[in-house]
Amino acid sequence: MEQAALFTIFGGTGDLAQRKLYPSLFRLYKKGNLAEHFAVIGTARRPWSDDHYREIVRDTIKDLAPTDEEAQDFSNHFYYLSHNVNDTDHYDQLKVLADELDEKYGLQGNRIYYLAMAPQFFGTIVNHLKSQEILTTTGYNRLVIEKPFGFDYDSANELNNQIRNVFPEQDIFRIDHYLGKEMIQNISVIRFANNIFESLWNNRYIENVQITFSEALGVEDRGGYYEHSGALKDMVQNHILQVVALLAMEVPTSFSNKSIREEKVKVLQAIRRYDSEEVLQNFVRGQYDTGTLDDKNFVAYHDEPNVAKDSLMETFVAGKFLIDNFRWSGVPFYVRTGKRMTEKGTRINIVFKQVPVNVFNFEQEEADGEELPQNILTIYIQPTEGFSLTLNGKKIGQGFNTDPVKLDFRQSAEVTENSPEAYEKLLLDALNGDGTNFSHWDEVANSWEIVDRIRNTWDQTTPGFPNYAAGTMGPQCAFDLLAKNGHEWAWQPDQWYRERGKLD
Ligand code: BG6
Repeated sequence: MEQAALFTIFGGTGDLAQRKLYPSLFRLYKKGNLAEHFAVIGTARRPWSDDHYREIVRDTIKDLAPTDEEAQDFSNHFYYLSHNVNDTDHYDQLKVLADELDEKYGLQGNRIYYLAMAPQFFGTIVNHLKSQEILTTTGYNRLVIEKPFGFDYDSANELNNQIRNVFPEQDIFRIDHYLGKEMIQNISVIRFANNIFESLWNNRYIENVQITFSEALGVEDRGGYYEHSGALKDMVQNHILQVVALLAMEVPTSFSNKSIREEKVKVLQAIRRYDSEEVLQNFVRGQYDTGTLDDKNFVAYHDEPNVAKDSLMETFVAGKFLIDNFRWSGVPFYVRTGKRMTEKGTRINIVFKQVPVNVFNFEQEEADGEELPQNILTIYIQPTEGFSLTLNGKKIGQGFNTDPVKLDFRQSAEVTENSPEAYEKLLLDALNGDGTNFSHWDEVANSWEIVDRIRNTWDQTTPGFPNYAAGTMGPQCAFDLLAKNGHEWAWQPDQWYRERGKLD
């Protein structure tokens, strides 16, 4: 259905706007969710003209193969205003332009303010939206805000108070782009639409849960940002804890924004708050050194642009969360994420408990010291999308030897290619006023509380960095973390490369 709205994008010349927002708006335009009744104001400091801005917008959508006419029509809805976020006069100009466009396109006073810029300006912008009376009284006013939402609990709380002075919680859409990904949304369907899983989804049957967000890229040109955030704040505080919450939450009474949020918050509250000693036992960090994978050489983190030569910032984290509730007591939720690892891959492994007694080839096994493989449900988030289940079957032939088999479903490349991009879904959700796939304040607050404890403990000790070679799956301590509980990472893509002599 066609939506009427004015988007004001703060940071309209930036990388996010160009790589994600404009192409996503174009997809919505092609699908008819946006048609005649929408306009976009891009603001940033640079003195661009409307014409130049529209040219840039057309350039960002060229991979989506629009016809010339489509590209022209779409980009004609875009307007540019050079803007200094601290200058009140500029907000007055913004108001004039916004009201004009409202009239011209019949936007019914519906406004989406998208903050796609440095977080230190979020508070200032929001205050000005109110003081300069840019907010409309007829339609809706919604705020979409990119991460990072604060840099610890206190700063996040302060930012939240500033924003909540202007926007009520239901009009604040805090982006966590993972929540827009198809397979992250599929976690709830896999759990709640399949009795065979949901009835086993607890500490009686699940031995441990493993969540891996590995990246092959280094920090690229984001050294300046990353030196302040590190892997813990960049990935664990938001994306990973959101996934833990989705995997561990109780079945919501209905699949609504409110019920889901309530259940997610309960999980985050039940995650054990570690003291310093527990942090050191349960969380490890790493930083990449030089490395060679498949004949490609990589520089060490401390030689990346805008990174200090003696940087102590982590580019890798692995840890164990414990959830102290009836369902999960005693089940470790292992998480790991890092830059310059072997492969880009986000996947979840649900490792089920072993059968109590293996009645097959017991003697043989004792001799080999090998156990029956465990059942593992794997959810592939990206780059491939799908899920698999490993089971044990009978080995063909004489006797009753077992043989592991894998039931494997992957979406076809065509389906994956054509499925909506995360930002497209999230923008449409914001247009529909649906906050289900966004982070609510209670979730953000709990996540910071958990992460602050880890950060504060780490800040008191000096790590021995660098401690893993680029191209590997992280430092040895990340493997030891599981080994000390008798577990191991189910996904070890580095082995494939090592076996073929492509990685030391
Ligand atoms: C972002 C992080 O939130 O997520 C980046 O800031 C990271 O450091 C990115 O690379 C990963 O997202 P995706 O969608 O490429 O897996």
